[in-house]
Amino acid sequence: MRKKIVIANWKMNHDFHETSFFLRNFLKILLEKKINHNKEIIIAPSFPFLHISNQILQGTTLKIAAQNIYQMDKGSYTGEVSASMLKSIGITKVILGHSERRELFFENNDILFKKIKIALKYGLDIIFCVGETSFERNRDQQFYIVKNQLKETIFHCTRDEIGFFYIAYEPIWAIGTGKNATYEQAQTMHKFIRSLFLEKYGESISNRIPILYGGSINNLNAGDFFLQKDIDGGLVGKSSLKIENFLKIIQS
Ligand code: PGA
Repeated sequence: MRKKIVIANWKMNHDFHETSFFLRNFLKILLEKKINHNKEIIIAPSFPFLHISNQILQGTTLKIAAQNIYQMDKGSYTGEVSASMLKSIGITKVILGHSERRELFFENNDILFKKIKIALKYGLDIIFCVGETSFERNRDQQFYIVKNQLKETIFHCTRDEIGFFYIAYEPIWAIGTGKNATYEQAQTMHKFIRSLFLEKYGESISNRIPILYGGSINNLNAGDFFLQKDIDGGLVGKSSLKIENFLKIIQS
């Protein structure tokens, strides 16, 4: 059975004080109240706070992820952050392909594949996001879109490399809108994604690959998402920013 995974995507929200306050108090509550959640927990703070966040979580089972990397190894790319820099401060995971990066920063499948390659070169685990717009869903194109996002990126990877991935299905119309996908819509897409991995890489990889749902998950709906057969957890934005909400989600 696949372990459930909950990832907090803090986006450009918590500052230094909020980040360290959250992590220290979250840990304290987990330990003092002996919260039994049985999930893999990953938190994605902003770049400047990755190092301190990693230090705060040292010796715990919680992990830190970066929200992005640049697609080149190093050089004259003012303002960018490389996979090797993350590696040098002990970061082992990165989110790639988030729809906000695709839309606002024009990251297409070509760029994302370059980012995947460089992340793999440094041994980073990749939380890779896919999902359709409401325009595409209204035209019933969601399966075609998601298949293409995978085909042009991850599906160029070898079987061994697939072991570094978490997939996050995030319908764009559900992100930050308060309008989550139905459990059925999400489960149907997750089953479809798993079938694509089955076709391409065979049964053991398709049974193993974690597929998370993201898009307006909150403490009231998380449990029902996590009950679905092919949903292995959640990528949570807004509802991961407050300790009390996030605690409820990891216990769902
Ligand atoms: P949301 O964001 O939970 O605020 O909808 C999810 C995400 O963007 O990963």
